[in-house]
Amino acid sequence: MCGIIGYIGQKQTTPILIDGLKKLEYRGYDSAGICVLDKGSLKVIKKKGKIAELDSELKEHNLSGTIGIAHTRWATHGEPNEKNAHPHLDCSGQIAIVHNGIIENHHGLRQLLVKEGHSIVSDTDSEIVAHLIEKFYNGDLAKATVQALQLIDGAYGLAVMCQAEKKIIVARRGSPLIIGIGDKEMFVASDVPAILAHTKKIIYLSDDELAIITEDNYTIKNLEGKKIDKEIHEIKWSVAELEKKGFKHFMLKEIFEQPEAIANTLRGRINDKEIKLSINFDITKIKRIVITACGTSWHSALIGKYLLEDLALMPTEVDYASEFRYRNPILGPDDLMIVISQSGETADTLAALREAKGKGAKTLGIVNVVGSTITREVDSGIYLHVGPEIGVASTKAFSSQVVALLLLAFYIRQEKGLAIDKKIIKELNNLPEKIKEALSQAEAVKVIAEKFKSSKNFLYLGRGINFPVALEGALKLKEISYIHAEGYPAAEIKHGPIALIDANMPVVFLATKNNLSPKIISNMAEVKARSGIIIAVVNEPDKEIKKLADYIIEVSITSPELSPVVNVIPLQLLAYYIADMKGLDVDKPRNLAKSVTVE
Ligand code: F6R
Repeated sequence: MCGIIGYIGQKQTTPILIDGLKKLEYRGYDSAGICVLDKGSLKVIKKKGKIAELDSELKEHNLSGTIGIAHTRWATHGEPNEKNAHPHLDCSGQIAIVHNGIIENHHGLRQLLVKEGHSIVSDTDSEIVAHLIEKFYNGDLAKATVQALQLIDGAYGLAVMCQAEKKIIVARRGSPLIIGIGDKEMFVASDVPAILAHTKKIIYLSDDELAIITEDNYTIKNLEGKKIDKEIHEIKWSVAELEKKGFKHFMLKEIFEQPEAIANTLRGRINDKEIKLSINFDITKIKRIVITACGTSWHSALIGKYLLEDLALMPTEVDYASEFRYRNPILGPDDLMIVISQSGETADTLAALREAKGKGAKTLGIVNVVGSTITREVDSGIYLHVGPEIGVASTKAFSSQVVALLLLAFYIRQEKGLAIDKKIIKELNNLPEKIKEALSQAEAVKVIAEKFKSSKNFLYLGRGINFPVALEGALKLKEISYIHAEGYPAAEIKHGPIALIDANMPVVFLATKNNLSPKIISNMAEVKARSGIIIAVVNEPDKEIKKLADYIIEVSITSPELSPVVNVIPLQLLAYYIADMKGLDVDKPRNLAKSVTVE
C-alpha cells in the first residue's frame, strides 16, 4: 500500500527520498511523487507508474534542497494518475502533505472547503488535509496541523512541510509512521526499510501523536499538546528481512496481517446503527444473485451463497467464471451478477462479467486492486482495502472477501427493512480480535505440520457454511506444498472418498459449533472407524470430539455466520508450515501466477 519517506538535514534530499521510495516498492503502488524545498519554494514532481519514471522525470528538473517528503500511492479514492498522486499542495502552493490511510469524512470536508473558496484539484480524500492546514495556518505549521486533524475522521499517517518553516510535521492515527534519528539529519517514513540505509535509531509514533522535526531535534506531543518521551529503538534486522516485516515469506506476513486487513475492510462501513455501502442501484429490486469467480475467490463466493440466502433472503447461485462464460446463462435486468477477484484482472472473471452485462444484469465487484479492469467495468463495487497481496497463495484477500460478503448480506437485509441481529454486528466488529486469537494457535499448528509434512494425501471436510472452508484449506495445501488434497462436504464421503481412508490419511474436520455439530461428529466417527487420522478445528470441544480427534486446534467462539473467517486461519497456517518445512518456494509456487490474465 502507500508509502511515505521524508528527510531534513544537510544533504541533498532527492536521492535519499528516491532511494527510500524504492525500498517501499514491495508494498505495491501505482504512482509516486516528491516535494522538495528548493531555493525557498516548494517544488512538486509526480508521476503515474513506477519510481523509475519519477526518477527519470527528476533528472529534467534538477531539484536542489535539503528538506523534502515523498510518497508511493496505492490508489483508494480516485484513480491512479498524476493528479491524484501525492504530495498534495494547498491553494497557495506553500504547504505540502503526503498521507497514508483514509479520511472517512472527506466528502463533508471537501464541501466545506470549496464553500470557503478552496480549489481542490484531485479526486483524493488526502488533498483535503493540505487545504485544512492552509485554512488554519497562521505562521505555526504544527498548530495548524493539530487544528486540521481535529476535524478529521479516519486513519492517517501524515507528513507535512511548508515553505516558511524549516521543519517536517508528522502525525499518526491507524497508519504507521516512524522517525529515524541521524547525525544532524532526521528521517520520517511509513516503514523501516525506507530509511534503514541511513539510521537504525527509530522512534515508532503511536496513534494520536504528532512530531515536530528539525534537522537536529524532534518534539513529540499528543493532540492536546502534552509533550511525550518516546523510547528510541535500535533496529537489528537487515533490509532484506524487513521488507517482509521480519516474516520469512510474504504469505506468512499476509496471514498474520489478517486482523488489520479485516479491520480495513470493515472501516467506515459498519456502526451499531447501519451498514454503509456505496451501491448505486436499488438492490431491493434484485430478484436473484449470481456470483462468479475463480480459485480462492470462488470459495468465498460459495460462502457468500450461504450468507446471502440466510441473511438477505436472496436466491443465490455460484458459478466458476470459466464455466459461466461458455454456457448460455439465463440472466436479465432483475438479476445481480457479483464478481469476486483479488486482482480485478482475472480473464475468466472479467469475461463472465461482460457476458452478464451484455444480458442486462446489474453488476457488482468485490475486488482488492483499486483501478483494476473489473472495478472499471462493474456498476458498483466493494473494495477490500487489504493492501497488496504478494504471496501467490491468497490468504488475506479470502478472509476479507468473506467479510465484504457479510457486509453485503447485512446491507441487503437492512435495505429490505428486515431486522438485523445486533449481536452479530458486534461480533463482526470483534472479528479482528478473534483472528488474532486463531493466529495464536500457530505453534500448535506447527506441531501438526511437522507430523504430516510427508503425507501424500489429505482430506478436508466441513458442512454448511464451512464446506467451502474445507475446499479452501485443501487448495492452500496443494498449491504450495504439492500434496494432493481434496475438500468435501463431510456427508459426501460415504459416496466415494471414504474408500481412500486408512491409517495414513490425515482428515481435517471443520468442527466449530453450529446446528450441524451432531452430524459432523457422526462423520468423524465414520472416519475413525476406518482408522483415519482426525485433525479437528473446534471452538467448543465437546467430549465426543475429544474422544474421536487425534489433534485438536482450538479457535475462539464466534457466530456460525462468521466462523469461516476464523476457521480458515489454522488451515492457511498448516499449508504454510508444511510447504516451508518441505523447503518449497512458498511465495512463488511452481506453475502459478498471482494474476491470471489468460483464460
Ligand atoms: C489461490 C489463488 C487463486 C486465485 C484465483 C483468482 O490461492 O490465489 O486461486 O484466487 O486465481 O484470482 P483473483 O481473485 O485475482 O481473481
